[in-house]
Amino acid sequence: MALYTNFQLNNVMKILATVQNKGGVGKTTICRLLCEYLCRKNKRVLGIDLDSQCNFSRRFLTMEIDNTDLDGVLPPIHPDFDEKEDSNWDGRSSSADIFYSGQAMPYPTRIKGLEIMPGNGTLLRAVELVRADDVKEKVHDRLHAFLCNEDVQSLYDVVIIDTSPSKGPLTISAMRAATHIIIPTTMEPQTIEGLHGMLQLWRRETKRRRRGEELKIIGILPNMFRKGVALHDGLYHTLANDPGIVDLLMPNKLGLRIAFAESDHPMSEPKSVFDLAEKDPARIEAEIVCEHILEKIFS
Ligand SMILES: Nc1ncnc2c1ncn2[C@@H]1O[C@H](COP(=O)(O)OP(=O)(O)OP(=O)(O)O)[C@@H](O)[C@H]1O
Ligand SMILES: [Mg+2]
Repeated sequence: MALYTNFQLNNVMKILATVQNKGGVGKTTICRLLCEYLCRKNKRVLGIDLDSQCNFSRRFLTMEIDNTDLDGVLPPIHPDFDEKEDSNWDGRSSSADIFYSGQAMPYPTRIKGLEIMPGNGTLLRAVELVRADDVKEKVHDRLHAFLCNEDVQSLYDVVIIDTSPSKGPLTISAMRAATHIIIPTTMEPQTIEGLHGMLQLWRRETKRRRRGEELKIIGILPNMFRKGVALHDGLYHTLANDPGIVDLLMPNKLGLRIAFAESDHPMSEPKSVFDLAEKDPARIEAEIVCEHILEKIFS
């Protein structure tokens, strides 16, 4: 895929990032569900993994372990790689390349319509360590510039970006590139604290944009919710009574359901919650949430 050429989005391709600096709240899960759902609705989807843990990549590709780095995860060799013809390429491509060279090759997946730009653990961690003086040019603005590429905009209807549990440079680059964000949240005190930090970041980002190009928030998505649990009901009630938050709460929730975790397993059958029985509560909840997001993005 070619180097970026201009810095305009065409207003047709939508770019959705899931962000929340607390870990384990469902960022990757909602990205994965959306990829599956949007492809079933005939959208052409590009998933971008900006998290060095590479959980999102692993849902769709067989990632490899990098033996040179304790936490290293590598994308597989790209199916289009030809050793004889591509002598200047090691055959792997990752989202980190966007920040190093502005070029990256998405991978096809088993799902029709879905391509994935996987992470590379070591390289993404290095991107986060860019010096403060260089961070704007080398990280914050890079993903936006890449997605402004005319080729990218002609190939996809929606880009889904998964981020790490942080407010670091890569999360900022995702927010700068995004047209929409979602903030998944579990009903726990520390996660709610993280939520306020993300809302500040969203307000800051949307203020610096031109009129008409504001960063839209689809909403705060309560995840792993258990009705009848005093902590969950109580914290939800607090959010619903906070005038600064209530309008941002999504109308639906995802409950704590083993089916969502099970579908992460490589041997799981069916592979997607959308292939569970039509009346399965996990499938119904996921469809309601994803349909709401689809309508919001394209409204
Ligand atoms: N609604 C749910 N019910 C049950 N399990 C869930 C639900 N949502 C997510 N999970 C499980 O919880 C774990 C954390 O979810 P996930 O990886 O999506 O969070 P994350 O915010 O991406 O985490 P990180 O910040 O580490 O990237 C995963 O094992 C996932 O399968
Ligand atoms: Mg994750």
